Amino acid sequence: MAFPEGFLWGGATAANQCEGAWDVDGRGPAETDMLTGGTVDTPRMLTYRMPDGTEGAVPQWDGLPKGAKLAVLDGYLYPNHDGIDFYHHYKEDIALFAEMGFKQYRMSISWSRIYPKGIEDEPNQAGLDFYRNVFLELQKYGIEPLVTMWHFDTPNYIEEELGGWENHDTIALFDKYAKTILTEYKGLVKNWLTFNEINNTISFLGMMAPATDEQFQGAYQHLHNKFVASAHAVKMAHEIDPSYKVGCMICGIVDYPLTPDPDDVIANRYMWEKSLFYCGDVQCKGKYGTYAKRLWDEHNVKLEITDQDLKDLAEGPVDFYTFSYYQSACVTTHTDAETTKGNMTIGAKNPYLTASDWGWQIDPKGLRYFLELIYDRYEKPLMVVENGLGAYDDLVEGEYGEMTVHDQYRIDYLREHVKEMEIAIEHGVDLIGYTTWGCIDLVSAGTGEMRKRYGFIYVDKNDDGTGSYARYKKDSFAWYKKVIASNGEDIA
Ligand code: BG6
Repeated sequence: MAFPEGFLWGGATAANQCEGAWDVDGRGPAETDMLTGGTVDTPRMLTYRMPDGTEGAVPQWDGLPKGAKLAVLDGYLYPNHDGIDFYHHYKEDIALFAEMGFKQYRMSISWSRIYPKGIEDEPNQAGLDFYRNVFLELQKYGIEPLVTMWHFDTPNYIEEELGGWENHDTIALFDKYAKTILTEYKGLVKNWLTFNEINNTISFLGMMAPATDEQFQGAYQHLHNKFVASAHAVKMAHEIDPSYKVGCMICGIVDYPLTPDPDDVIANRYMWEKSLFYCGDVQCKGKYGTYAKRLWDEHNVKLEITDQDLKDLAEGPVDFYTFSYYQSACVTTHTDAETTKGNMTIGAKNPYLTASDWGWQIDPKGLRYFLELIYDRYEKPLMVVENGLGAYDDLVEGEYGEMTVHDQYRIDYLREHVKEMEIAIEHGVDLIGYTTWGCIDLVSAGTGEMRKRYGFIYVDKNDDGTGSYARYKKDSFAWYKKVIASNGEDIA
């Protein structure tokens, strides 16, 4: 049997996409609360108010006009405000995860539920209580939480008033938050992740529209500060509880050269360095890669890095490496190549692959490629903490009158990826866990849609905000239950 005993099968979600209750029990706002819904072809918008009271909205990636402050405005729908109301349904949802046999549930803590602005001296007790109750519920069923400290939701106050992650002082605010949750949940949590898809900050920049040197300067400084905060969190975790394990979380973008043109091969290698190794190396090895200076020089970046920062990075490498994996893309210097969409990425289209309805190219073998390459590079245990197919689902009446979804397409997608994980393990990769993305339907991060569904559990909520929030098991629910029960042996 390829999958080791104790393999951590499960599912993954993020606070901002599932909890809802965005302003309940003292939670403060984060940027995700000011994001409208989009579609596969139209961007999510950020809504704002100018000092003179004028209101407006800009595409998420465009940046706000000078002086604008994010604001919740009348006449817009904000899908993350209600999510799938996990805040009030967590007992029911965890019972369903337990029924599937989950060994692990990846979730995130919303920073602004613990520190509403990020600057308070004392944490918000109601926020602490909520996560404690969730962890206790998981414990009831023997499900290990895997907790992401930051999943796209810095408190808005820090972003707007303090300069966000480009400001070195934000590190201390994150330290306080990390220390609070690491202390509070000792004994309830064993495994932590610091920053979700930390590499998006740099890999996505310049993809939608050309970026300026100033933007690159900001993005690299932002990342440096997160690296230091992550290293602090690892160090603190080990001090607070020596049995804590802390991992990084990287957006696993697999790129291939589109042609054998040496320029494409080199461009592809440089893409891996910029998009993947840049973050993985600092977080796993505790220091910047040899190519970092080249990347900075390309955009005249001059980073503010203190000697203490370098010492902290060296003392805080992660214990394991985790990543999301959905699709692959190609890199080319040939400007006439056809492009494809993807998870925080746009690349050249691969003629050998098919794509999801959202244009994400489906490539199970790319997962094996990534696992083997990354394990060889870092020799640390790996976890795939996001993988899945975002698809349109039809809720229909099942054989016994129950409502269900016949999602064979999702089963097929997952099965092919499980097969490749199995091969990678046979080839010597130390893969210790797999949590599929959106194990229960939730709000899409990229488009804000509900109809882009990933779950084994259907949630009756629609893009226009209507729905009963009832939960229904899809066909994939029984399939995954079987996969877990057989530890990956029975994937038919
Ligand atoms: C990853 C994120 O980028 O991909 C998740 O960590 C996200 O938050 C997931 O939801 C899938 O992307 P999308 O855009 O389909 O929700």
